[in-house]
Amino acid sequence: MAGSAPLTLGSLTIETPVVLAPMAGITNAAYRRLCAEQGAGLYVCEMITSRGLVEGDETTRKMLVFDDLETVRSVQLYGTDPVYVGKAVEILCADYGVAHVDLNFGCPVPKVTRKGGGGALPWKRGLLADILAAAVGAAAAYDVPVTMKTRKGLDDDHLTYLDAGRIAQESGAAAIALHGRTVEQAYSGQADWDAIGQLVESVDIPVLGNGDIWEASDALRMVAETGVDGVVVGRGCLGRPWLFRDLAAAFRGDDVATLPNLGEVAHMMRRHAELLSEHMGEERGCKEFRKHVGWYLKGFRAGGELRHSLALVESLATLDTLLADLDPDEPFPTSELGTPRGRQGAPRKRVVLPEGWLDDTDGRDLHVREDTTELTGG
Ligand SMILES: Cc1cc2nc3c(=O)[nH]c(=O)nc-3n(C[C@H](O)[C@H](O)[C@H](O)COP(=O)(O)O)c2cc1C
Repeated sequence: MAGSAPLTLGSLTIETPVVLAPMAGITNAAYRRLCAEQGAGLYVCEMITSRGLVEGDETTRKMLVFDDLETVRSVQLYGTDPVYVGKAVEILCADYGVAHVDLNFGCPVPKVTRKGGGGALPWKRGLLADILAAAVGAAAAYDVPVTMKTRKGLDDDHLTYLDAGRIAQESGAAAIALHGRTVEQAYSGQADWDAIGQLVESVDIPVLGNGDIWEASDALRMVAETGVDGVVVGRGCLGRPWLFRDLAAAFRGDDVATLPNLGEVAHMMRRHAELLSEHMGEERGCKEFRKHVGWYLKGFRAGGELRHSLALVESLATLDTLLADLDPDEPFPTSELGTPRGRQGAPRKRVVLPEGWLDDTDGRDLHVREDTTELTGG
């Protein structure tokens, strides 16, 4: 494939049409920097709540940290109330210099959907329109594009994505990202790229496709099959930040598959822990790093005891000692290529919704209570 077109989000041009998916607990400043060191694209901050931001919640503020080299600040907001969302967008633009705001309408976690938030919200078309309008209105003064990220719907009988696309477009959103699964599916099964293609057909704003991009070749295939303007990559880059190098190459028209040996992976692990430590302090940084160990070592022979010790690492010095025990020459396990990583799980037995949620599809008069510290994400 020859070089691709850049992704245009309102005033923002992203030369390589690749977006790091917001992932709660993962896409903090350190991880975004690590990925950006490898490739090119837009790197979205983990989700923060509108109410938390507006009320000055400490946890929320601590999540709004950006790396010095992060020239384009992109944040995903969660919200269910147009007033809070509008105010939160204003704060992000005015106080944090954010250049892109994404709205989360895809979270499948029962705790969130039970209150009508995340993936449950697009069922209420009127409320969705009001939230988008509030966000777009607040961002307009700063020329900051607002996008939304959603799923196909609640379940196969309650699809919302085509309405969401229309509403996003009418509300002035700069793009819509679609994860080709329903809330009911959570992360199970396969993402439905046909639905992504249908959304592309039905709107004029850019569509970003999301779901099951494990390799750079998958991203190109998604573009070819669906006509999306860009791709959003989540689990595929867990323990593999170099996927962004392959993606950047692929969208340039080069075929690159980075296959680091274990020594190079260890180097990347060290860099990740180091960046986390820089941003959070060594103790917390090392604790945060632990969750990534299994992803980095997936498919490598590295012994159980060593993995176990790495997953308990408390300092960079211990990390160095442990990483030195890995066989640097072990080649990359190519059997891992193209296979799922990160959470997959089973479909939900049912989608937990507020009582009577399905009875009407407007919801304009609803005052859906927002949590200050909703940290579960997508
Ligand atoms: C650990 C984790 C946290 C996530 N947190 C969020 C989030 O905060 N906001 C969101 O919109 N999606 C979130 N997601 C969903 C991803 O952004 C993405 O839509 C999903 O993983 C499908 O893409 P993939 O197949 O490339 O992983 C999360 C996913 C994972 C695995």
